[in-house]
Amino acid sequence: MGTMDNLISLVNKIQRACTALGDQGEDSALPSLWDSLPAIAVVGGQSSGKSSVLESIVGKDFLPRGSGIVTRRPLVLQLHKIDEGREYAEFMHLPRKRFTDFALVRKEIQDETDRETGRSKAISPVPIHLSIYSPNVVNLTLIDLPGLTKVAVEGQPESIVADIENMVRSYIEKPNCIILAISPANQDLATSDAIKISRDVDPKGERTFGVLTKIDLMDKGTDAVDILEGRSYKLQYPWVGVVNRSQAEINKSVDMIAARRKEREYFANTPEYKHLANRMGSEYLGKMLSKHLESVIKARIPGIQSLINKTIAELEGELARLGKPIAADAGGKLYSIMEICRIFDQIYKEHLDGVRPGGEKI
Ligand code: GDP
Ligand code: NA
Ligand code: MG
Repeated sequence: MGTMDNLISLVNKIQRACTALGDQGEDSALPSLWDSLPAIAVVGGQSSGKSSVLESIVGKDFLPRGSGIVTRRPLVLQLHKIDEGREYAEFMHLPRKRFTDFALVRKEIQDETDRETGRSKAISPVPIHLSIYSPNVVNLTLIDLPGLTKVAVEGQPESIVADIENMVRSYIEKPNCIILAISPANQDLATSDAIKISRDVDPKGERTFGVLTKIDLMDKGTDAVDILEGRSYKLQYPWVGVVNRSQAEINKSVDMIAARRKEREYFANTPEYKHLANRMGSEYLGKMLSKHLESVIKARIPGIQSLINKTIAELEGELARLGKPIAADAGGKLYSIMEICRIFDQIYKEHLDGVRPGGEKI
């Protein structure tokens, strides 16, 4: 792994350590450290294709998908690239349990959602944390959020419309949040929930990536070229078009590899999109986001660095306050995040010196 891969993977680890401690209601410097680390949140209207986009980036089937409100809790998904070996997933609420069957990952997301919300269609802002380790992913942290909606359906409280919007806003208003704004091509862009809410928090489009789904479902005789070339709604970064699996293909269990191939062929062989084909599709989207995340982290290194120094100092203070004997659990967690911070510190310095961290494993 290169220096940059190590950095992203460290940021991942710090985020997880922060959350593990945060969940315990620990009152420390960690929440502000978490907020300073970049993550990518996926936003859009219900059934716009958010979960499908996320699955395509990961290249795996593992999310509950379908019509209506399926995603009812935020899912914080960390992708960790490993050098070799079999891919597996781990939930923070089930430490040390390795999932290699991704159908069971989907079931656990559903069960864990129900555990928090009851079996109702209610939503909860309490996130589920999932890590996927695979040779086939790029290092990324992605957050799947409940879809924005305009009306409550039967069994839901009226407040659900505003509750979802507030929840989404609480993630994307943070300046370090990169917004993946999902709009379906078969609806007027002017009505896009994703564009509406991201424009509120990021009016200049400086941290918003526009993703256009369902291009294959557009009316005959219309195309998305004006949007994809940035003439309909301008963002700092170019729009990316994707073609996810249709519901019929999901029902037929069309696998991800076949779906990606079909998507590639779609852009390469459709006359309107041929000239854009090399910057379209889920695979391109994943690589582009990872590269972007790298540059954001690079730019933030000095800021993260000083926060980490502050955090180390405060954690040392906390440890001292805990006194002896330290409760094995709390002490262990504090030590491990301090360790991570120190490694970050060291890599950062090597990075400044232009020295590669001699192949060390983190
Ligand atoms: P979410 O509610 O925003 O997470 O949307 P989902 O990812 O669950 O997708 C909603 C429905 O739209 C599913 O039935 C998907 O199969 C379908 N879908 C999503 N993207 C596309 C696409 O690009 N093309 C087609 N044909 N169907 C899509
Ligand atoms: Na849905
Ligand atoms: Mg969803």
